[in-house]
Amino acid sequence: MRRIAIIGTGYVGLVTGTCFAELGNTVICLDNDARKIAVLKRGEAPFFEPQLLEMIVRNQHAGRLQFSSDVEAGVRDSEIVFIAVGTPMGEDGNADLSAVRAVAATIGRALNGPKIVVSKSTVPVETGEMVSSIIAENSIEAHPVDVVSNPEFLREGSAVSDFMQPDRIVVGTSSPQAEAVMRDLYASLDAPFVVTDVRTSEMIKYAANAFLATKISFMNEIANICELVDVDVKSVGRGIGFDHRIGTQFMNPGIGYGGSCFPKDVRALEKIANGRNYDATILRAVEQVNHEQIKRTFAKIESALGGSVAGKSIGVLGLAFKPNTDDIREAPAIHLIDSFVRSGAEVFAHDPIAIEVTRAEVGAGITYCAQMYEALNECDLLLLATEWNEYKNIDFRMVRKLMRGNVVFDGRNIFDPEKVTAEGLRYIGVGRSKEPVFSQAVV
Ligand SMILES: NC(=O)c1ccc[n+]([C@@H]2O[C@H](COP(=O)([O-])OP(=O)(O)OC[C@H]3O[C@@H](n4cnc5c(N)ncnc54)[C@H](O)[C@@H]3O)[C@@H](O)[C@H]2O)c1
Repeated sequence: MRRIAIIGTGYVGLVTGTCFAELGNTVICLDNDARKIAVLKRGEAPFFEPQLLEMIVRNQHAGRLQFSSDVEAGVRDSEIVFIAVGTPMGEDGNADLSAVRAVAATIGRALNGPKIVVSKSTVPVETGEMVSSIIAENSIEAHPVDVVSNPEFLREGSAVSDFMQPDRIVVGTSSPQAEAVMRDLYASLDAPFVVTDVRTSEMIKYAANAFLATKISFMNEIANICELVDVDVKSVGRGIGFDHRIGTQFMNPGIGYGGSCFPKDVRALEKIANGRNYDATILRAVEQVNHEQIKRTFAKIESALGGSVAGKSIGVLGLAFKPNTDDIREAPAIHLIDSFVRSGAEVFAHDPIAIEVTRAEVGAGITYCAQMYEALNECDLLLLATEWNEYKNIDFRMVRKLMRGNVVFDGRNIFDPEKVTAEGLRYIGVGRSKEPVFSQAVV
């Protein structure tokens, strides 16, 4: 069993640390956000993720999982140090590596013996080399350090099971010793183990996210064309998805992708290419389609409300960028709400768990509703923005009674249009009906 430090106790770091503790290792999760560490020490979770809190508490009680904001001390006590800090989009679109640099310097200062330093953060090609140099520049004692890339593929909302049952584990290293330690660390997980050099591993993570984002933008574009030719995109998705080369997953169009990864990672990869004088045409188009999809949704809603949302009341179901998380980073719902409010609409919003996060980060301008039906009271239009399970069986008879208007905008294609229209409501989905046609977004 290993002594592991995780630097950065966010979605990735906390899940990684907790799962490694669950696998029997001794883990210390470190963060420079002292408030977050205090919350965790009290046995609470700083964000919602299914199964995570029970696992944290169990491993804390077993003495395998600790939390601290003393990063240097945590590094000194560990043989493997994971870097899991954020790499957000910088102002120029490149990944902002300031937290990675700061952490590398801290590891250098704390270096007191041989270590394996593993990057779980999503970082551009060449970052591993940069981390090695920064550690060397800052270390007082000379010790062997292997810098390994081990990109994370977990999905928020199913992060614990994704970690425990991964599709694959990717490890980038040229050191046989580091490879052996990483194989040992993951030995109890039954998954293909892909070993590459560091640069290739760094590239794999960007290529994976860029491909997934491309799939979403592709289906959004197909949905938009379906609207023009009066074809139901759901049937098209089924019709092409059974081809194994295409696959059935990620075939659902919607109101655009969001979250903390796809937007920044697609842009960062594009910037990596631009920096080498390559114009990444597909990546640019993927971003553009996504951007237009949110604008197009706004335009469709305006049109459904007679040309303007001003003075209208809109009930929004779902704030998080996807179900089973309270993460609202780059959530399409938040972008749309911002446009509604700026255009003079009143917004009543519900989300099963993301209300507090939204209140803290977005604040005023929205009326937050504890019950989903409360958000629909006297509203002119219902917007389903996040496909939480509890919305799937909404009672449309009740919806009809509560609403002032009659438009149901199904931004994730989860409702049965017949059930909606049977109650005298008007259904608008994404690529599903003969609803108003837009050849271009107009906002
Ligand atoms: N969230 C995801 O679903 C996901 C999935 C795969 C990969 N990733 C990648 O993993 C990385 C982390 O993402 P996240 O969503 O967990 O980020 P996050 O913002 O939730 O967490 C990052 C944490 O790092 C801490 N931190 C920042 N600087 C620090 C420092 N100098 N010392 C100690 N702690 C510091 C922050 O306080 C924060 O708690 C990113 O590179 C991201 O692209 C994220």
